[in-house]
Amino acid sequence: MSKNKKIIIANWKMNPVSTKEAKKLFLGIKITASKLKNVQTVVCPPFVYLNELVSEYKGHRIAIGAQDSFSENAGSFTGMVSPKMLKNSGVEYVIIGHSERRALGEDNKMINEKTKASIKSGLKVILCVGERSRDEQGKQFSFIKKELVESLDGIAKGSLKNIFVAYEPIWAISNNSKNKAMSSNDIHEMTIFIKKVLTDKFGVGMKIAGVLYGGSAGPLNTKDILENGNADGLLVGRSSLDAKKFNRILETANNIE
Ligand code: PGA
Repeated sequence: MSKNKKIIIANWKMNPVSTKEAKKLFLGIKITASKLKNVQTVVCPPFVYLNELVSEYKGHRIAIGAQDSFSENAGSFTGMVSPKMLKNSGVEYVIIGHSERRALGEDNKMINEKTKASIKSGLKVILCVGERSRDEQGKQFSFIKKELVESLDGIAKGSLKNIFVAYEPIWAISNNSKNKAMSSNDIHEMTIFIKKVLTDKFGVGMKIAGVLYGGSAGPLNTKDILENGNADGLLVGRSSLDAKKFNRILETANNIE
């Protein structure tokens, strides 16, 4: 990815409820995404739609990602989907460690194992980190540092080029109507902090694929977050379920210098 190319990721979560709707939404996004030179678009639908969307619609400016992947490639693991299966199905990206999965019991150790297995299978990982709350003493910084260091334990420096860190403060995610995006100043501060933690861990010259922001990102705050928040891209939930809104995010990102 060129230096200024932004990556905009749609996290559809557990939506929509039919293949027909999934195809319609994807096609509505693809028409715009395929025209934009400065944006890499990634759509992460639920597992059941992956094959359909990969085979019918994959294009070079739009890629498909999964929302999770297990830490083993095959075996007696009822209900799981493996990184190798995803890779063999033409999936290129995978979200690991989303706060909604952590809320179901995933810890940093599990996320670390999933990250390693996904990288080994040749997937690009979108590793999510984010604090539940903030305080004046800055406890969020030590929390994020612990998530990063433990989730990336044993990862080779050279693999960082295939890992995006998505910083998503849980209190800013739009699952609650009161939640609002974090200010671009605070995002800027956190993206610098994340790069510092990674440099301390992996050494000068470490090259993370990008540091992204997620949490109530939408058409109205995209420009501010990308320009002033110093984010390399966005992980978008709610606004990715409306093709018009999502396309406005893509177009705005495409016009950032
Ligand atoms: P949101 O979700 O854009 O709806 O806040 C982001 C996410 O949870 O990935």
